[in-house]
Amino acid sequence: MIRILREPALTRRSFLARSAALVGAAALPAAPARAAGPREITLAPAPSRAAIVGAPYPETSVWAYDGRIPGPEIRVAQGERLRIAVDNRLPAPTTVHWHGLRLPNAMDGVAHVTQEPIAPGARFVYAFDALDAGTFWYHPHYASAEQLERGLAGVLVVEEPEPLRVDRDLVWALDDWRLDREAAIVEDFGNGMDTSHAGRLGNTVTLNGRVPGEIAVSPGERLRLRLVNVANARIFALRFADHAPVVVARDGHPVAPHEPKDGVVLLGPGMRVDLVLDCGADPGARASVVDVFPREPYRVVDLAYGRMPLRESPLDAPLALAPNPVPEPDLATALTREVVFEGGMMGGFRGGPETMRAMTSRGLAWAVNGVADDGAHAMPPLLTVESGRSVVLDLVNETAWWHPIHLHGHAFRILERDGAPEPHAPLADTALMAPRERMRIAFVAEGAGAWLLHCHVLEHQAGGMSAVLRVV
Ligand code: C2O
Ligand code: CU
Repeated sequence: MIRILREPALTRRSFLARSAALVGAAALPAAPARAAGPREITLAPAPSRAAIVGAPYPETSVWAYDGRIPGPEIRVAQGERLRIAVDNRLPAPTTVHWHGLRLPNAMDGVAHVTQEPIAPGARFVYAFDALDAGTFWYHPHYASAEQLERGLAGVLVVEEPEPLRVDRDLVWALDDWRLDREAAIVEDFGNGMDTSHAGRLGNTVTLNGRVPGEIAVSPGERLRLRLVNVANARIFALRFADHAPVVVARDGHPVAPHEPKDGVVLLGPGMRVDLVLDCGADPGARASVVDVFPREPYRVVDLAYGRMPLRESPLDAPLALAPNPVPEPDLATALTREVVFEGGMMGGFRGGPETMRAMTSRGLAWAVNGVADDGAHAMPPLLTVESGRSVVLDLVNETAWWHPIHLHGHAFRILERDGAPEPHAPLADTALMAPRERMRIAFVAEGAGAWLLHCHVLEHQAGGMSAVLRVV
C-alpha cells in the first residue's frame, strides 16, 4: 500500500499494529533520536533517473538530491542545529536555499547575493538553527527555473516539541512536469511564452515524485497532511470530496484551526499548508482529491478506505499548535513602502511600450517598482532598513496574472487584501496574489544582509520579477 509514498514505508500491518498499540496513548510518530551536537547531513545533487510516470513508461532523466525525487525528507526537532554539507555532483553550478527558514543571511543560499554558486565538484556547508517548527522546503537558488524543473526540491520538517495528536503525519510534495511521450523532460526551460504568461505548466502532476494512484486510509483515522507546492508555476486549489480538512498551519506557522474558504485549499508555488484530515467516510469508500483551480478540473489522488475502522468516533484531541517565536511588527513605527508588480502579457508598464520593448529584447517581462531584475540581483535595493525595525509593504499586483510573492528569511503577517482584513492574519513567507489584487503585509526586519522578495513562479522570477530588501 501507499505505493506513492517514499517513506516511512509502513506496511499496512505494522501501521495497524502500531496504531492499535498507541490508541489512547497519543498515536504519535516515533520521535527522532536527538543528537547531542549539530545534526550532520550530506546532500548530493546529481543526475539520476526516476520512475515518475511508472510502467509502461520508461524512467525519466532527472537531477535529484541523493537520487531521490523529492529529495530526502529532513526531519529535525525545533531548536536543533543543522549542518548540511552540499556536494555538487551536477554538471552545473548550484546552491541550496532553505525556503521559509529564518536564518543568517550567509546561509540563505542565493547565488550572487549571499554566496557564490557551488561549482561542479565543490562543496558548501550550510549551518543554522531550526528556530521555527513547521513545514519548510529546500531547492536550488541558481538557474532555479531549470534546476527545480529537473527535480531538485526536498521537504524539511521541523517538529514541534508537542506535536499534534494524529495517527499519521504525511508529507505531500505536489509538483508538475512537462514530459514528452517517452516521459522525458521537455527541455524548453525559460521560453518566452512561459515567461510572459502563467509560467511553465506541465502536463503530468505528481505527489511525492510519482503519478499517484491512491492513498490507503482507515475509517476513523486522523491524518496530518503537510502539503508543499514545489511546482515551478502550477497553482493547486484542492477540494477533498466528502471531507472537511482543517488548516492548522500556513507556510509552517500555526494559524487558528479553520476550514479553508469554500472548502478549497489554495496553494501557490512555494507555499505550504498543514491540514488535519479526519477520515470519516465508510469502510471501503473512495474519495477524490480534485484540483479545481480555474482550468480543467482533474483528480490529483484518491483516498481509498480500508475495511477495518481504526476508531469508532473521531479522535478527540486539540488542533491548535503553539506559536513560533516570530517577532510581532509594530505598525505604529513601521517603515511603509509600496511595491508595484507590473508586466506580462495584457499588462504593460508604467514606462510604456518603449520600456516593454527594451525589456523583451533582454528576455525580461516583469518589473518591481519599475526595475526588472536580470538575475544578477545587482539593482539598488527596494528599501534599506535597520534590523529590528518593523516594515509594512503594500504590494500591488498591476498585472493580469497570479503571483505567489516570497520574502526570504522572514515570516510576514498578511494584514489586508484589497483593503479588507485577511481572515486569521496568518504568518507566511509566500502569499498568492490574484490578478490586480493589493495586499498589505508586515514583518520585523531581521538579520543584516540582502533578502530577496520575488515571485515564486520561477519563470516570472527569471523574467525580472525579483527585488532585494537590505537589512543593516
Ligand atoms: Cu523558494 Cu527565493 O525561493
Ligand atoms: Cu509571478
